[in-house]
Amino acid sequence: MKNESICCINNDFSIDKLKNLIFDKYGVNAPLCYLHSYGCQQNVTDGEKLKNLISKIGYDFTDNEDKASLIILNTCAVRENAEDRVFGKIGEYKKLKEKNSDKIVCICGCMAQQKHIAERIKQSYHQVDLVFGTFAFNQFYEMLYEVLKTKNRVFNTTEQQSDISENFKQLRDDKIKASVPIMYGCNNFCTYCIVPYVRGRERSRTEEAVFDEVSDLVKEGYKEITLLGQNVNSYGYGFPKLLRKLNTIDGDFRIRFMSSHPKDATPELIDTILECDKVCKHLHLPMQSGCNRILKEMNRRYTIEDYAEIIDYARSRKPDFSFSSDIIVGFPGETYEEFCKTKEAVKKFKFDNIYSFVYSKRSGTKAALMEDNISDKQKGLWLRELLLEHREVTVSWLSRFVGKTLRVLADREGRTSENHIQGRCNENIIVEFIGDKNLIGSFVNVKINKAMNWALLGEIV
Ligand code: 5AD
Ligand code: SF4
Repeated sequence: MKNESICCINNDFSIDKLKNLIFDKYGVNAPLCYLHSYGCQQNVTDGEKLKNLISKIGYDFTDNEDKASLIILNTCAVRENAEDRVFGKIGEYKKLKEKNSDKIVCICGCMAQQKHIAERIKQSYHQVDLVFGTFAFNQFYEMLYEVLKTKNRVFNTTEQQSDISENFKQLRDDKIKASVPIMYGCNNFCTYCIVPYVRGRERSRTEEAVFDEVSDLVKEGYKEITLLGQNVNSYGYGFPKLLRKLNTIDGDFRIRFMSSHPKDATPELIDTILECDKVCKHLHLPMQSGCNRILKEMNRRYTIEDYAEIIDYARSRKPDFSFSSDIIVGFPGETYEEFCKTKEAVKKFKFDNIYSFVYSKRSGTKAALMEDNISDKQKGLWLRELLLEHREVTVSWLSRFVGKTLRVLADREGRTSENHIQGRCNENIIVEFIGDKNLIGSFVNVKINKAMNWALLGEIV
């Protein structure tokens, strides 16, 4: 039986010793690391920071878990199915570990931050060597050193909030689009949501740090920057002010951001979006529900009328202003009639895109204690109904672009044929057109001929 270490304070640690240990173990051929991030952009960003740390101590990366000496799953806790997938993967690693007991398996991120998950892994999944939550990222080297040197299993679910370390740079895979966190954590405690528990309270990066990072990315050639935060509207130094400042950076690029909490979205935000030429005319504004009673139970702190006011204001200034939304179906106690109010809202607000989910019970949240009488199967049927409703609205709403020429950032191969490529317009809608693959990474003007329910089809002009 291996030893287990709860923390990893190892007085003996230094980065040079860690590098030497890795060199002694693997020799001149760099050992390989497989790292996969689940979930939201914020989590992907954490994964990119981890990748940077890992590359600095001599690892290369692989997409093949078989070949990896170090496997890292950077996990998401927002819904149960994300956790199930991770446990499925961990199960698969049992065989890999039997074949090669030297392989190090690490589970980190939001899911690992929850004590009951760390405990479950400790008791039942002995193929896992290292478990650490979001708060322990800055101790990664120490923890890895401990595991490599002593072969002890390490579990670290500290809740001590770490400072924002500006030294943690991201190693980005994408060379066209980059995500830049502007703040971490969340103070809102929506009753269904685990995020405030696993990511702690809001901490904002300084305006200077964000400005410098975005300027550098633009100089490197990035064409689209997405500013990230659980609620960018509560960015500590004024979000509209930050947007205006970033808009002054020279270069051909555009700025997106997510997410905006409706309770803090103001006409000033809309004005800023409209007045800054680099900022995309699109707002991701998670509505969650169209029913005031459910919104109250969710602790969202706005009514559907407040929500409508923001949309109305934006569209009074720009009639085709684009909105997208997150929606939860089947919150505890929600009735079919209440769900129908969400359907009505989806019809009324004409979102260009919705991300809809069946409610998932997260232990530790307030909603987990609420009575819930509707089966998951029934909720699944409601979800399908919602998607059909949305699909019906989408095509006619997207048709507002037919005949117009849109500026599209080409970002991948197309879906229709080998000759097609794909990109996103300012409003964040997929645009598909015939074009040379060399155009991927550039802005292209595309005249829209047709609206489909998944994309706009057009031709280069
Ligand atoms: N169940 C279902 N969906 C959830 N989300 C957050 N928590 C839950 C949950 N417990 C959704 C919300 C949020 C998006 C990121 O995930 O819609 O906006
Ligand atoms: Fe979760 Fe609400 Fe915070 Fe978004 S604003 S991360 S839904 S608690």
